[in-house]
Parts: sequence; C-alpha cells; structure tokens
Amino acid sequence: MTGSPPPANWFVREDETDDENFYASPRFVTHIDQATIYALTDYYREFLADSDAIIDLMSSWVSHYPAELAAELVTGLGMNEDELAHNPQLTDWRVQNLNREPVLPYATNTYQRATIAVSIQYLTQPLTVMSEVRRVLQPGGKICIAMSHRLFPTKAISAFVKLPPEDRVRLVMFYLTEAGFSDIEFTDQSPDGFDPLWLVSGVA
Ligand SMILES: C[S@@+](CC[C@H](N)C(=O)[O-])C[C@H]1O[C@@H](n2cnc3c(N)ncnc32)[C@H](O)[C@@H]1O
Repeated sequence: MTGSPPPANWFVREDETDDENFYASPRFVTHIDQATIYALTDYYREFLADSDAIIDLMSSWVSHYPAELAAELVTGLGMNEDELAHNPQLTDWRVQNLNREPVLPYATNTYQRATIAVSIQYLTQPLTVMSEVRRVLQPGGKICIAMSHRLFPTKAISAFVKLPPEDRVRLVMFYLTEAGFSDIEFTDQSPDGFDPLWLVSGVA
C-alpha cells in the first residue's frame, strides 16, 4: 500500500452471483490443516478471556476457540444456518450476507473481542465491515483476523487471488487502519510444514 486507495478492481470476484447460493449447503469441513488450527487455538488462548463478550464474524460450525473458554456471550455471524447451529462455541448466531448488508445488527460498544478466521478474502466491502466491527467493539476491544493461503478462488476478491501473501497482509492492515483501529500488529504463527497462519490484530 502506498497511501493511495486500493484500486476498485481488487474488490471484484469471478463469481458475483448471490453468496446465498454458494453457501446454501453446509460444509462440515475445516479449511486449514489441523496443526494450523492448533496454532490458532493457542493464539486465542491468550487473545480471548472468559470475561469477554466475543463476536466471531464469517463463522461456521467451528470457531477454533479453546474448548475451555467459558465466555457468556459468543455471537456468530455467517452464511449457513446449519453450520452455525452446529457450532458449540456460539451462544447466539445469525445468517447475514455482509456483502449485501455490511452494517452489523449489534449495539455500539457490545463486545471486547472480534475474530474473523480464514474468511477476510470474501469481503467485497471490507472497510465498511471493519468500521462496523470497530463500532460494536468497546474502546480498547480487539480484533484478530486470521489468514492462510487456501480460498474458494471464484468467491475471493481479486486482490487475494492475485497479490502475494505479504501484500495481502498489508491490505488487511490497511483495512484496520482505515477503520480507525490502532496498535495494528502482524504475527506469523505458521507451524512448520503446514498451512500458514498469518494474524493481524488491532485495537478499537
Ligand atoms: C472458509 S470458511 C471459514 C469458516 C470459519 N471461520 C472457519 O474458520 O472455519 C468462510 C466463511 O465465510 C463466510 N462468508 C463468506 N461470505 C460471506 C458473506 N458474504 N457474509 C458473511 N459471511 C460470509 C461463510 O459463511 C463461511 O463460513
């Protein structure tokens, strides 16, 4: 990123049909190696606390949170009702297409932690969504965006299909900067020999 806004064509997808169709059937699969999931769960062990109200955006049947986490409010938002209903870590959930409705239906200053795991590449209006995440986080609350290298290529925005990993990370850091997050950090928690795990965090 050079200071000028990213080109509009970075945010287009090969498949611009309704996301509802693509996500109509549940996928009870994981999208990264088990070792990478363990690394993410380990990170969450520090990032999340029982006392936090948490929101998992672009969620599915798994959130990869530590099994021992006992938070009282864990909200999930994703595209497939069946997947979300099977996620044992969520206390409430809803289906919402963030590419059609990027405004979050939650009150300002509700959560202390937000997570988005291996999904940021599917957002076509990421700046609006990140501003919304910042709004629903309490001041001092934190977001963690976990990235890897697998994707549904027809549904990912062109930037994530075409740019090298370091530029994809820079783009996500730019999303958080533009949305007004501070203390934006990148950490590479990739386990040797398995799918990478690139984490970007920021403070609301
Ligand atoms: C690769 S899966 C990752 C799911 C889960 N976060 C995980 O770590 O396994 C991508 C997720 O992004 C969500 N997603 C994709 N497009 C979306 C959209 N337009 N609005 C909201 N969620 C979306 C899907 O529901 C799906 O659960």
